[in-house]
Amino acid sequence: MVAGGTGYIGSHTTVELQNAGYEVIIFDDLSNSNVEVLDGIERITGVRPDFVKLDLKDKEATRKALENYPDVKGIILFAASKAVGESVRMPLKYYRNNIVTLINLLELMPEFGVEGIVFSSSCTVYGQPDRENLPVTENAPIKPATSPYGNTKQINEEIIRDTIHSGAPFKSVILRYFNPIGAHPSAEIGELPNGVPQNLIPYLTQTAIGIRKELSVFGDDYNTPDGSCIRDYINVVDLAKAHVVAMDRMLENKSDYPIEIFNLGTGKGVSVLELIHTFERATGVKVPYKIVGRREGDIEQVWANPERANKVLGWTAKESLADTLLSAWNWQKRLRERGVQ
Ligand code: UFG
Repeated sequence: MVAGGTGYIGSHTTVELQNAGYEVIIFDDLSNSNVEVLDGIERITGVRPDFVKLDLKDKEATRKALENYPDVKGIILFAASKAVGESVRMPLKYYRNNIVTLINLLELMPEFGVEGIVFSSSCTVYGQPDRENLPVTENAPIKPATSPYGNTKQINEEIIRDTIHSGAPFKSVILRYFNPIGAHPSAEIGELPNGVPQNLIPYLTQTAIGIRKELSVFGDDYNTPDGSCIRDYINVVDLAKAHVVAMDRMLENKSDYPIEIFNLGTGKGVSVLELIHTFERATGVKVPYKIVGRREGDIEQVWANPERANKVLGWTAKESLADTLLSAWNWQKRLRERGVQ
């Protein structure tokens, strides 16, 4: 069962799960996604996943839905609110959505004999790592969260850890994503933010296609080689494939540990300016941009040491940044063809 399977990462993961032979059921309340995503998934894989429109904060409704699917063996939890800025303005929305959903699922899993849960976490739990901890491993210190959103990810991880340590009859894999970007190479599914995008790539592609006038680069006076912030941008299909490996690992009992944590990144740090120039080279399209002041709360630089995932999961991020940016551009063009502005 993929909770939040019509969202950006959830839809790409559903495709990879189906390609690997899994039968997928999506539970999603469509609060930040569109039911037409199911058509895209079907066009890519030839299989339409079962879909239940459901608010996962409603435990009784979730229980009823699981009663209809007694064969669910594993859960992947994507369903969550994820906008950092909004979480500062509306903390209770974030605590309710992100925490109640997880607690409900953890309480229901033993009732239905669900064997494991893969949880979407974030490199936000590391905050700004100290220099000596870059690239960050899973053992880098967890820093105090800088937003309610980030705090929910830390609390979610603790809830899972405490529940497993209490002897709960299931396993968990916690995946800490760096910056997922790009779209499926078919351009049938991709990221579809509501309103003005807050994240770099949708803002950049909307600028390149003329929906936005120019991209603001938030700061060029950071202590980095070109002064702009550094992130580890990971292709969303690569990221999706890691979930399949994690699910296999849990269900086939390949791990000696009931809970495991993996960083999912490329291992390469890329600055905002480098990324813009790579996009321009890959697509041949110019991106108008201007340097503006720093964005409050931004991390200066963070990128992954993904060795644990490489060695233990046998998973590596494969796509190049240029191809990934091209996929984001092709998706933006597809949205234009469909009349989505
Ligand atoms: N940026 C710009 N202009 C924009 C948008 C972003 O210059 O219009 C810059 C940011 O300053 C940052 C980089 O592009 O340096 C990436 O910004 P994003 O907003 O795309 O991503 P963040 O790294 O800030 O945040 C993302 C997710 C969070 C997650 C976090 C983990 O949005 O959900 O990674 O660090 F928590």
